[in-house]
Amino acid sequence: MAKDGSEHSSRMGINTRLAHSGNNPHDYFGFVNPPVVHASTVLFRDAASMAARSQKYTYGTRGTPTTDALAHAIDALEGSAGTIVVPSGLAAVTVPLLAFVSAGDHLLIVDTVYHPTRNFADTMLKRLGVEVEYYAPDLGASIAALIKPNTKVVFTESPASNTFEVQDIPAIVKAAHAAGAIVMMDNTWATPLYFRPLDHGVDISIHAATKYPAGHSDVLLGTVSANETCWKHLYESFCTLGCCAGPDDVYQVLRGLRTMGVRLEHHQRSTLAIASWLEGQKGVARVLHPALPSHPDHDLWKRDFSGSSGIFSIVLAGGGQKQQHAFLDALQIFGLGYSWGGYESLAVPVWLGDRVVAKAPYEGPLIRLQIGLEDVDDLKADISRGLTAAAAA
Ligand SMILES: Cc1ncc(COP(=O)(O)O)c(C=O)c1O
Repeated sequence: MAKDGSEHSSRMGINTRLAHSGNNPHDYFGFVNPPVVHASTVLFRDAASMAARSQKYTYGTRGTPTTDALAHAIDALEGSAGTIVVPSGLAAVTVPLLAFVSAGDHLLIVDTVYHPTRNFADTMLKRLGVEVEYYAPDLGASIAALIKPNTKVVFTESPASNTFEVQDIPAIVKAAHAAGAIVMMDNTWATPLYFRPLDHGVDISIHAATKYPAGHSDVLLGTVSANETCWKHLYESFCTLGCCAGPDDVYQVLRGLRTMGVRLEHHQRSTLAIASWLEGQKGVARVLHPALPSHPDHDLWKRDFSGSSGIFSIVLAGGGQKQQHAFLDALQIFGLGYSWGGYESLAVPVWLGDRVVAKAPYEGPLIRLQIGLEDVDDLKADISRGLTAAAAA
């Protein structure tokens, strides 16, 4: 194996690549991890090199050995031409959108998108003159009917936030590219371990690295990876916006990446055990997890994804907010908190009031669960407490 883990990397197993990608220890005296470079100023040797900007690093906002180490590791996982590292997952959504849409452009966004993405589109992008339209997650190839001459970007997120519908990404890509539009995908749920968007024709892959890459609920970070066609413009826009991440956070995410494979295997195993157990529990009308054969998009998920992560939702069999709150308040291990992907289990009430087309009727209130690294039997006992409380409410 090459000392920086880059050569032959696509032939090696995922955990080997996670352990060695990104940096070459021998660039820094053999220390296994890269240095955490705290930098604004970068010195030039002379006026000529300053005028020509003829050195690798020129200013702290544009990249450092620390950000490069993470970006190269992500490129190795995503198969991308380049990756920018930004201060949050939300910035990983807003920066590429700002880079690629302009006043007068039409932007298609899946209706089941992460709510703050919708909020950004409905407020800032609309104010800047962008025409925003939401589409149903099950459109697939028929998204062609919504594409207009001024459609610049189709923004996908699959599986969906909160309700976990799976989109036919290759079909959407084909329709978008035929009309000259590019496709962005928020791939946070699967991580590049279980879905590689660029292999399916997506132009820009987005991650809230806050979640599984960081893995410990203590860092906010985002990554945006582009194919050859979009990389130069993405990087220039990133430099224009000055939206760079702090070095300590970047380092923490590279550190988290080393163990992401083993953590995800555990999340996957426990989540599937709990999700399929939940299907047989009284008080549960439906389990919304695409890796379960009962899920309407299971075949699509199986065709394109190589694994599943740790969040899904349940639909209670009847009731309303009272039962939903009773369930949540009875939990002793699951914390009530939004930012998932850490080692600990979480539960949140799902609110679908922002949706304009994907308003499937559900039998009762929805609760989203993130299954952490705790023992499955303890988590099942906690969920049982919630179901008992909901039934009594
Ligand atoms: C799908 C998805 N994308 C993006 C984000 C934003 O990430 P961050 O919390 O780092 O801003 C989240 C956060 O929950 C998310 O669930």
